[in-house]
Amino acid sequence: MRIAISGVPATGKTEISKLLSKKLNYRLISINEFAEELDAFTGYDKKMESRILDMAKLKKEIKKLKGNIILEGHTSHLFPVDMIIVLRCNPEILKKRLKKKFSSNLLKIQVNLEAEILGVISSEAVMNSRKVYEIDTTDKSVKESVNVILKILKGEIEEFKVGKIDWLEEFSNWIDTT
Ligand SMILES: Nc1ncnc2c1ncn2[C@@H]1O[C@H](COP(=O)(O)OP(=O)(O)O)[C@@H](O)[C@H]1O
Ligand SMILES: [Mg+2]
Repeated sequence: MRIAISGVPATGKTEISKLLSKKLNYRLISINEFAEELDAFTGYDKKMESRILDMAKLKKEIKKLKGNIILEGHTSHLFPVDMIIVLRCNPEILKKRLKKKFSSNLLKIQVNLEAEILGVISSEAVMNSRKVYEIDTTDKSVKESVNVILKILKGEIEEFKVGKIDWLEEFSNWIDTT
């Protein structure tokens, strides 16, 4: 079983995946760390201050892996997996977390905030898998979010099916980083 934990930066992917992998005893693969190990980069995006992943190389290497895996990162929903969990966060709270994470890069904050408001990752995820679930992490602790994922794995999926979280109405006039 391969589970992707995706979401825009600062939604809690890394922390939630760590605890989940312990609880399930699954191997945890952070896409960024895996790319470092393999030197799987094709360039550098100056504006976003981040390296560009070599997706073809990563896909090839990830396909080779055996056993139970949690794949963690904001591109993890683009890889061959059995299930995708997209972590969502209320944009108002996310803005604060993004400012903490990327204080010096306003563009990065804005792009990620827009992506969350528009639900970009969820849209991409449904093109890759029929099993896509979303968790609103806004008012949940890491432990609570992990418990939701354990519920989904047990088949309690109705509440978490993709498409129920929609920030657009509330935040469409709000995209700005001031
Ligand atoms: N449920 C949560 N409630 C409040 N803060 C959280 C929660 N989950 C994560 N955070 C905080 O948000 C930041 C980003 O978490 P992290 O796991 O690194 O996210 P990601 O891997 O998605 O970028 C960290 O400072 C973390 O402590
Ligand atoms: Mg992370």
